[in-house]
Amino acid sequence: MGSSPTLGTKFRDGEFRRVKVRSFIVADKNPRGRGIEGGAGADQAKAFPMKAARIHSHGGHEVLRVDTVARPSPSDRQVLVKVKGASLNALDTSLRAGEMKVITQFQLPKTLGFDLAGEVVECGKRVTSFVPGDKVAAMTGVGGGAAAEYASVDQENVARLPEGVDMLEASAVPLAASTALQGLRGIAQLHAGQKVLVSGASGGVGGFAVQIAKLLGGSVTALCRDEHFDYVRGLGADEMIDYRDDGASKIDERFDVVFDCSAKMSLEQVQSLARHGGRVVTTRPEAKKVVQGFIDRLRGAFTYDVIMVRPRGGDIAFVLELLRQGRLQPCLRKGFPLGSVADAHRYFEEESVAGKVVLTVD
Ligand SMILES: NC(=O)c1ccc[n+]([C@@H]2O[C@H](COP(=O)([O-])OP(=O)(O)OC[C@H]3O[C@@H](n4cnc5c(N)ncnc54)[C@H](OP(=O)(O)O)[C@@H]3O)[C@@H](O)[C@H]2O)c1
Repeated sequence: MGSSPTLGTKFRDGEFRRVKVRSFIVADKNPRGRGIEGGAGADQAKAFPMKAARIHSHGGHEVLRVDTVARPSPSDRQVLVKVKGASLNALDTSLRAGEMKVITQFQLPKTLGFDLAGEVVECGKRVTSFVPGDKVAAMTGVGGGAAAEYASVDQENVARLPEGVDMLEASAVPLAASTALQGLRGIAQLHAGQKVLVSGASGGVGGFAVQIAKLLGGSVTALCRDEHFDYVRGLGADEMIDYRDDGASKIDERFDVVFDCSAKMSLEQVQSLARHGGRVVTTRPEAKKVVQGFIDRLRGAFTYDVIMVRPRGGDIAFVLELLRQGRLQPCLRKGFPLGSVADAHRYFEEESVAGKVVLTVD
């Protein structure tokens, strides 16, 4: 890895691009294992079996099963990783519940899991940056497959773990921290001295957003439950407001950047909280908001963008280096063994979790 990252460092033009939902789905270069998941590959499964957390239908956490399936084979530009930890993201529970099936159109059964840390055990013919034995963290793209004993990932979506970074802690980081980084530094272009509102500050993305906003020099107001105030203050937030009882409506300041990582803020709320010319970034597209945001942008009121996180090894390396330096906390809250994936989903959805939940693999 190169020199220490500075959050003020500008990357090449175009590195942070706004991506429509459609391109997020199309950008998945890694829909691997579909044939195997669909039932083929019985011989491979016998020869190279592994455990994988899969859904066979959409629904509650009871639809999750741990199946014995064939280990994926890396394609030319992929590495096969022996997974140590795979984090839970809201994407896992949304896909399991079938909320996005119209746009994703996955074949079932489907292995969930979209980011991981582990050890490279095999490399495709054209892999130049990694060798077996490397300890890495990665994002899978929307193809998923991280919630398993082994996962194949494109080499561009992988970063080597810096010396001294704990693998399980690292597994909590790639997707959520990349979303925060790309949303705040990329889209919002947050800079020192700006006021930022982070909604969903105790959640997976939100915890990294608070920290990254502070590292970029912002002053952070965080919306979360009051029982998580200490946690969020510990991440660096300057002010905390309980979002319940319409807490957001009691805020009388205007923010340069509103980052809605809860994806729960109404259009009226963001309109009243963003300053004229400010930037609003949300983690979930909603047609009405996008259209109104476009109108607001034309009026010069504020920009309204949806972040669709892109898997990028460079961004993952960047946040891992911050972790090594102790400038970023991993936000790891709780680990569940892969075999208890249904309990992990239940905990993630039904408890108010401050931080990240990971699946651990022996
Ligand atoms: N577009 C992308 O690329 C992308 C990437 C990552 C995530 N996402 C989306 O971003 C959202 C967050 O993901 P995540 O993984 O961080 O989920 P998460 O860990 O469940 O975090 C969500 C947070 O929102 C809080 N929250 C719930 N209702 C709220 C409200 N009305 N006001 C303020 N905060 C509220 C929750 O707090 P309590 O439940 O404790 O109150 C929780 O802390 C999800 O919708 C996810 O699908 C999108």
